[in-house]
Amino acid sequence: MDRPGEGVLLDVRGVTKRFGGLVANNDISFRVGAGEMVGIIGPNGAGKSTLFDLLTGFQPADAGEVLLDGRPITRFRPDEISRLGVARTFQKLRPFTQMTVIENVMVGAFQKTTDLARARRDATNALERVGLADKAESHARVLSTGQRKRLELARALATKPRLLLLDEVTGGVDLRSIPGLVALVRELNAAGTTLVVIEHNMGVIMDVSRRIVALHLGEVIADGPPAAVGRDPRVVEAYLGQAYVR
Ligand SMILES: Nc1ncnc2c1ncn2[C@@H]1O[C@H](COP(=O)(O)OP(=O)(O)OP(=O)(O)O)[C@@H](O)[C@H]1O
Ligand SMILES: [Mg+2]
Repeated sequence: MDRPGEGVLLDVRGVTKRFGGLVANNDISFRVGAGEMVGIIGPNGAGKSTLFDLLTGFQPADAGEVLLDGRPITRFRPDEISRLGVARTFQKLRPFTQMTVIENVMVGAFQKTTDLARARRDATNALERVGLADKAESHARVLSTGQRKRLELARALATKPRLLLLDEVTGGVDLRSIPGLVALVRELNAAGTTLVVIEHNMGVIMDVSRRIVALHLGEVIADGPPAAVGRDPRVVEAYLGQAYVR
């Protein structure tokens, strides 16, 4: 995004979050243009998931502003932010285990409609997109980790987001399922969904993102094209001296 303000969907301005004496996010700023796919990297504890919590209203920011389409959403509740078209997945999976898979996804669909038949249709559609349609009537508790990740994704998709925030969607997933998830993420972006993707798998993130924001100890240490960020001395240092080479 070269021209400030133009086509900016998400504008994060100096967000800060403290947990007691720990500064989990320290004055984080970056922008995401409509249609972009941005990767977020950083070592464990860098503040990536906390950042998503601030962007989606799950935690209140101590300072800073979050703007969606130029409109402040900083103190909005999660359901309000969801209705504005922002969806997220959680790194720590939390399906409603007493409910069936499709009922879990309908919880997402009901963010956009009150019509039961429509919610069921949207949920079915989302399950088909993530390849879980055959498990629609199963109880969520019987799903494997990989299937739960897909369920998370379907629940987010059922809200029909413009901006989708994915927190380690390949984490804990069996290796064979990763290419399918990556293809799905690309497809969503090609269809116009703006994506911000937290990812530990450097091969995946370097491949799918056109831009990467690197966090370390709660701060942005690099923001740019994958190749440049992978060579950035601060990023190399944060990853214990291991330069990421494609
Ligand atoms: N609810 C909380 N209460 C207290 N401390 C927290 C809370 N949530 C996160 N933290 C702390 O804030 C820091 C950032 O955590 P966060 O989960 O955002 O990191 P992360 O980059 O997502 O890490 P990972 O790669 O392990 O998922 C960590 O030191 C973590 O222990
Ligand atoms: Mg995390």
